[in-house]
Amino acid sequence: MSRLPVLSRSFETAAGARQPGAKFQTFSYWRDLTSPRCRYLYRRSSFEAIARGSAGHNVLYSATRNIAQPLLLDDGTTWCCDLVEFPGGPLPTGEYGRSLGHWNLSDETESFYVDAGAATMLYGWRDSPVFRTTIGGGSILVLPPAAWHVTYCTTTAATTITNIYSRKYSSPAQHESASKYAERTSGLPRVTLACVRGEPTLVGPDRAKSLLAGKDFATHLTTSPIGVLSRAFAQAAGNSALRSWLLHEKLAGSRQ
Ligand SMILES: [Fe+2]
Repeated sequence: MSRLPVLSRSFETAAGARQPGAKFQTFSYWRDLTSPRCRYLYRRSSFEAIARGSAGHNVLYSATRNIAQPLLLDDGTTWCCDLVEFPGGPLPTGEYGRSLGHWNLSDETESFYVDAGAATMLYGWRDSPVFRTTIGGGSILVLPPAAWHVTYCTTTAATTITNIYSRKYSSPAQHESASKYAERTSGLPRVTLACVRGEPTLVGPDRAKSLLAGKDFATHLTTSPIGVLSRAFAQAAGNSALRSWLLHEKLAGSRQ
């Protein structure tokens, strides 16, 4: 197995975070969920009023970016690895704690490996049904390119996810401009996941487009975590170097 470099465990400075491959931490807050308005929210007006007052104190999730050194392959694909943490518990309107949701790029494969807790994913493609999959600890979900997706934490305890994604660009920062992000949130399906009468329930005008649980399209594997991770990415990337890199990172325990 090849030995690949692992970044320092200490967080980089703000200036350092702009360097390719530097490790840094980001936060998304309740207030971020309300903009742009095209994102569907359960009980939007109530939530917006609460979120406006909460300022930057209520975290949707935190993400430690580049917990492993990004890997640039010969075909120009960059693979990045982040650690995402949801605090657990629902939002005050009954919607589950969630990510902001966005469209992935046409050349972007993304996977979600649940380290602890449980996550429910809503995802789909242009004109496709809304797919819904729940993954628990040790499970991985791999999204093919060009999917929209939202992650929900349906547990009261924290949920931690290792998020690995590919891009056919050598400079991931190019993808994070404000204009790019705006494009990636327009026209999202008007559906979300809320606790209704004690049950996780799809709500919103587009909920009728949803498929039954278990009819998901994405790769969803639940066997041995190390074996699953390597096999899933061997399928996704078809590249033995990437498989070795992921195995190394998992076995070396490079995460905080
Ligand atoms: Fe994504």
